[in-house]
Amino acid sequence: MTDDATGWFEPLYAQTAADGGAPPWNRDGPHGLLEQVVEDRRFDGGGTRSAIVVGCGLGADAEYIASKNYNTTAFDLAPTAIRIANDHHPDTRVQYEVADLLDLPDAWRHAFDLVVECWTVQALPDPPRTDAIHAISDLVAPGGTLIVIAVARDDDGDDSAPDGGPPWFLNAATIAKFAHDGVEPVDVRRVPDPEAPEQRRGWRAELTRPAA
Ligand SMILES: C[S@@+](CC[C@H](N)C(=O)[O-])C[C@H]1O[C@@H](n2cnc3c(N)ncnc32)[C@H](O)[C@@H]1O
Repeated sequence: MTDDATGWFEPLYAQTAADGGAPPWNRDGPHGLLEQVVEDRRFDGGGTRSAIVVGCGLGADAEYIASKNYNTTAFDLAPTAIRIANDHHPDTRVQYEVADLLDLPDAWRHAFDLVVECWTVQALPDPPRTDAIHAISDLVAPGGTLIVIAVARDDDGDDSAPDGGPPWFLNAATIAKFAHDGVEPVDVRRVPDPEAPEQRRGWRAELTRPAA
């Protein structure tokens, strides 16, 4: 199931790159909701704090987080995405890595002051979505912050029907799963999605792992 769920990303990056393009979700700049949270909360890494960007694709969100003075790691399952992210940002301060969210290095557990998840989980069916959500929460250091951005369902209907995605618009119960193993919600909102404000709403969720 996991291979079926995630095996199509690398071929899509490779094919669209060969055609001179990019996958349909690609953006040149950060997601508007990520910008909203970071600006509203004045998040700044001060040159010392660490951040990790999950399923980073071609790196727009990762470059934005690095510009906020975080020592930024960004990872994706697809080697072609990571190669292009490096090619597009030759002077980057981001450490781009190929890694599988469902099999992360032990050293990343509870290791990052800021964890950014945008649109990865909604691209996965369940399974393996719940395992992916818990792996993301696991990255948050004590005292750290998790930001989750996803397209929202307007109701509490099923968000995992096999023929419903990808992407699957996520319901409140799925977003609640990020509050896992000590991670707690801070501010979870279903708001107009700046990427398509007339058409849909999005989740902007902030969570934390309280300092020990
Ligand atoms: C819909 S795209 C979103 C990309 C980017 N976050 C954005 O907002 O544009 C989902 C991304 O998650 C990556 N991905 C999917 N499953 C993954 C996994 N198990 N581990 C790491 N990355 C994964 C895909 O390769 C793809 O780049």
